[in-house]
Amino acid sequence: MSTPQDTSAPQATPLTVKSAEDMRELGRRLAALLRPGDLVLLSGELGAGKTTLTRGLGEGLGVRGAVTSPTFVIARVHPPLGAGPALVHVDAYRLSGGLDEMEDLDLDVSLPESVIVVEWGDGKVEELSEDRLRVVIERAVGADAPAEGDADADDVRSVTVTGVGARWAGVDLSPLGR
Ligand SMILES: Nc1ncnc2c1ncn2[C@@H]1O[C@H](COP(=O)(O)OP(=O)(O)OP(=O)(O)O)[C@@H](O)[C@H]1O
Ligand SMILES: [Mg+2]
Repeated sequence: MSTPQDTSAPQATPLTVKSAEDMRELGRRLAALLRPGDLVLLSGELGAGKTTLTRGLGEGLGVRGAVTSPTFVIARVHPPLGAGPALVHVDAYRLSGGLDEMEDLDLDVSLPESVIVVEWGDGKVEELSEDRLRVVIERAVGADAPAEGDADADDVRSVTVTGVGARWAGVDLSPLGR
């Protein structure tokens, strides 16, 4: 049994994602696991594929508007087309003040009724929710990367999804890998 303080949940699912289209598909599958109020934290270097994953997530949730890099805005709200939750896409790169600043944004949406996806949020927005899905995207190296000379080697990513908190305890993340 893990204690509530134990955030290293035994649910990490390392996935190999071979193309941008596969990353988008992963986002669509992720959407199927999400409920209103969920927080998804995306980590990974510049160009890792955080926005690409979010694009698929928006498609899976069925929200309005194209998901793009939220340049010039810290957060963009995508309202639902149907009955599902809105998607709030946050680029925390320019967010220095953490939670307070996020609340100051005065987004015209109910955060508890939305799915919030945050890029570059490590150490900044964890307080938004004790429960969160942590997604770490890394460029695959070594055994996960295709053999040298393979034209697509640069496209391979390793994605680790970890559920943190009571919300994710016992949630089966294996559908993400199919
Ligand atoms: N396996 C892959 N997964 C995701 N993106 C890929 C993959 N292979 C190639 N790409 C390309 O890498 C780029 C990823 O860009 P994206 O904007 O999604 O990254 P990001 O992590 O959001 O970057 P930033 O930190 O600047 O916000 C896209 O041009 C995409 O087509
Ligand atoms: Mg991005």
